[in-house]
Amino acid sequence: MKEIYLDHAATTPLVPEVIDAVTDCLKNDYGNPSSLHRLGIRAEKRIKDAKLKVSELIKASPEEILFTSGGTEANNTAILGTAYDKKRRGMHCITTAIEHPSVLEAFSHLESQGYEVNYLPVNRDGVVSPEDIKNCLREDTILVSIMHVNNETGSIQPIKEIGSILNAQKNRPVFHVDAVQSFGKLEILPHFLGIDLMSLSGHKIHGPKGIGALFIRKGVRIQPIIFGGKQEGGLRSGTENIPGITGMGAAAEWTARRKEETPYYLSGLKKLLAEGIKKTLPDAVINGGLENTAPHILSVSFPGLGGEILLHALEEKGVYVSTGSACSSRSRKYSHVLKALNLDNSTIEGSIRISISYLTTEEEIRSFIPILAETVKRIGRFTRR
Ligand SMILES: Cc1ncc(COP(=O)(O)O)c(C=O)c1O
Repeated sequence: MKEIYLDHAATTPLVPEVIDAVTDCLKNDYGNPSSLHRLGIRAEKRIKDAKLKVSELIKASPEEILFTSGGTEANNTAILGTAYDKKRRGMHCITTAIEHPSVLEAFSHLESQGYEVNYLPVNRDGVVSPEDIKNCLREDTILVSIMHVNNETGSIQPIKEIGSILNAQKNRPVFHVDAVQSFGKLEILPHFLGIDLMSLSGHKIHGPKGIGALFIRKGVRIQPIIFGGKQEGGLRSGTENIPGITGMGAAAEWTARRKEETPYYLSGLKKLLAEGIKKTLPDAVINGGLENTAPHILSVSFPGLGGEILLHALEEKGVYVSTGSACSSRSRKYSHVLKALNLDNSTIEGSIRISISYLTTEEEIRSFIPILAETVKRIGRFTRR
């Protein structure tokens, strides 16, 4: 049975160039970058090279990149690090109801420490209104954190408009963007969008898991949240994950070589996918619509069906999808994102997320559509009343 992996928003397979780079590093460059001898200097150079490669993809400078253990740590560092640094100026923050748990939980932690957080709603397409953000700003607002692409629906948030609104403020709050899902798929250039802090992750761009980065615009100050040997100028203590960092650098380089064609290629596949589903399963509902969504994520519901039953039935056929966000799909709670879109319970329960990457082929999409149609119809016969 030929397997079809359509869960690239959860994680992506490593490409050979990344595996080669990480293997070479593991074999040859085992030095500690803090060591003063040659091996240490070689390890340090690997960090510098990788910072350059990641920074080039977002038109920033290497000094603006801080490697972390992933998108989760980047989000926590941005949010807690800003809140602690700006506490004297204010304790009010703004975010949305559809953020990733690594953002929502960091804010919930701040609330327990006396900070005030507004979680703004989104419209039926899963998009926050820049006007709502403007109306919510106060003298004591220190941080606005908005994701670029939502991991469950693919909805794209109006980052440019929000950046302009914030730039016009006298007491400008720090602007953090979780760009984990858009990095490498859509262009996101922090210096051109008024972004101060931006979270990235390696394993969504064919790099290893457990490595990510936070872009910190030159001049923006945050407090560390990890303490110890003062690596990275004291911003993140702990011996650097050199193999992971090398892998993320190699993945960024691989991604950069394809960055012009990637959005077009993915959009073409997504269109094929959506049209195929609509034709074979006319009752299917595309959550968040197709306009203004990222080219690699399609959230689709079959009201009356169980998304999890569908996921496992597809798995039997060698097809891998997700029921919601990878990070929350093990919990039995309804997706907070689909709830925020005001969908009814039956639509939420019957939803799956299909996500692709540059490695997905047209042939895979063409093979997947009849498998999905047959599986939905078969399950529907047993479960629909
Ligand atoms: C939007 C978003 N932010 C943050 C993360 C967390 O990234 P990581 O898995 O690298 O911790 C994810 C992971 O799915 C995500 O989709």
